Amino acid sequence: MLERPRRLRVSDSIRSLVRETKLHVEELIYPLFIVEGENIKSEIASMPEVYHFSIDKLKEEIEEIKALGICAVLLFGIPKEKDTCGSEAFAKDGIVQKAVRLIKSIAPEIIVITDVCMCEYTSHGHCGILTESGYVDNDKTLDFLTKIAISHAEAGADMVAPSDMMDGRIVAIREGLDEAGYINVSIMAYSAKYASSFYGPFREAAHSAPSFGNRKTYQMDPANTNEALREGQLDCQEGADIIMVKPALSYLDIIYRFKANLNKPIAAYNVSGEYSMLKLAVKNGLLSEEAIYESVLSIKRAGADIIITYFAKDIARQLRVK
Ligand code: PBG
Repeated sequence: MLERPRRLRVSDSIRSLVRETKLHVEELIYPLFIVEGENIKSEIASMPEVYHFSIDKLKEEIEEIKALGICAVLLFGIPKEKDTCGSEAFAKDGIVQKAVRLIKSIAPEIIVITDVCMCEYTSHGHCGILTESGYVDNDKTLDFLTKIAISHAEAGADMVAPSDMMDGRIVAIREGLDEAGYINVSIMAYSAKYASSFYGPFREAAHSAPSFGNRKTYQMDPANTNEALREGQLDCQEGADIIMVKPALSYLDIIYRFKANLNKPIAAYNVSGEYSMLKLAVKNGLLSEEAIYESVLSIKRAGADIIITYFAKDIARQLRVK
């Protein structure tokens, strides 16, 4: 036997020497849910150890995130009021705008990314403006998404992340930001966003489930691969700085295809359903904590450069002891 692959597995140090993939805390993005009100830090029922924060409770959380070495957060807002056109999403004193200003004032070095979408803000829970028949009107929605992105930039966001899946939204937002003078605010596009059942816990957390129908006329069919590549290519042409695949774990093949074919940083969103399944299994002693690292590592191995994950703090803690 000339080849003995086990030779390179004999000790911890040799295994470390030949290890191909590692997670780094710098490549993780931690999502935060912000609510109106005061003195609120309440655990989200569908997502163990993930919380709703009111603005006054954010400071403490940002301190903890910083201490763990996490460099970037992705903000989701739950507004006090909803209407048909999601006005709170682009209000100057909207919940996300206030949160961005606060975080930037206490920790300017933290990368603040905002989710640009309308579903948390519309009374019908869809990601855009509806026609009379209840179809999401693509081109009308673009104007609103652009307004939302500009208002986030005005508040001080470093990066905006459109998650609506309307056609042409990246170029619309890019032009809007540039005209408003925000040439250095970058865009992380949810490029291949699937109509997935794994968003269930998030919709409870963000109060954003559609009041009728589903999101299948704008989010992608889970059966498709080539369509994802077309979406990714379009977003690159339209000026996206980072392209994203979402969800991550059931779509590792898509991450791999993006990495092989598209020359932009690739992000992957390890979504709420993926989080809650595993977190509950670990909390109930069915799986060890190491399953968390292994699971997030698989996203990196598939080709993701950046990982958005509710496990960011768990991973940061695990990296400290490794
Ligand atoms: C908003 C949005 C959703 C998620 C991120 N942005 C929900 C959806 O599209 O229904 C899901 C995130 C998660 O499940 O963790 N459109």
